[in-house]
Amino acid sequence: KKDILDIHSLDPAEITLILDTAMGMKEISQRPVKKVPTLRGKTIVLFFQEPSTRTKLSFEIAAKRLSADSVAIAKSGSSMAKGETLMDTVKNLEAMKPDVIVMRHASSGAAYLVANRVNCSVINAGDGIHAHPSQALLDMMSVREKKGCIKGLKLAMIGDIAHSRVARSDIIGFSKMGARVSVCAPQTMIPAGIEALGCTVASSMEACVADADVIMMLRIQKERMTDVLFPSEREYAGRFGLNSQRVALAHKDVTIMHPGPMNRGVEISSDVADGKYSMILDQVTNGVALRMALYYLVAGGSRHADTD
Ligand code: CP
Repeated sequence: KKDILDIHSLDPAEITLILDTAMGMKEISQRPVKKVPTLRGKTIVLFFQEPSTRTKLSFEIAAKRLSADSVAIAKSGSSMAKGETLMDTVKNLEAMKPDVIVMRHASSGAAYLVANRVNCSVINAGDGIHAHPSQALLDMMSVREKKGCIKGLKLAMIGDIAHSRVARSDIIGFSKMGARVSVCAPQTMIPAGIEALGCTVASSMEACVADADVIMMLRIQKERMTDVLFPSEREYAGRFGLNSQRVALAHKDVTIMHPGPMNRGVEISSDVADGKYSMILDQVTNGVALRMALYYLVAGGSRHADTD
């Protein structure tokens, strides 16, 4: 594929290829010298117009591990701050001949717009509330690594589904790979018709987490809300927060996930976030390998990595 824009356009075989490639890349990150020449001579532009810790850094580290040159541009500090349009900015980036543009933007669909106008590959690192494909892929990689396979698992997803691009990409991806996805949130945080993506809506948090193999908690995205939070953070934590009592309702070998950043004490208690079932930091570790795989598959040529 030229671009990675969403999970919707990947079929199960393509998802499996990405996850298999990422597992190979993970081995590189465990070597004493964590660098291979696979993408030497390639140029990657990191174009992030929203804040990011995990996604931006892991795309940057992934580029370095594959010996690609990466450069970053943000909205502030670029000529967009002087009024240059997104399209003019991107055409100027393209004129410098990058091989890949990784972009995060506040508007849903921005990555599609750019991908249609440039010849280089575009990887969507999050567009508005729409899609975050590399997050969903690293989540699937993490679950498959931990549980052996995704098919047949029950995934409970609780939180601000309405404003979450992670939720949309994970619901589509996990259901495509054969998991049963159950979601739960206050009415105001569940968009109408969400079932069409491949999930069911649970009547309560308890019903959602019952016998779950994986529980994925989502942050309340206040930056995307125009109204005051209802319920309040305290009420929210009481009804929809993950604590050890609710974890006990799940499968005895449950895995707890969160894409980050977390609101500790709101959607997840610290003892659960840091507890024995949590694989939240494993998700971050896998994020580097998964993004190495995406670079390799869009810019590296053949199926098998030159991992010497
Ligand atoms: N999960 C995620 O996208 O985190 P960042 O916003 O820190 O990149």
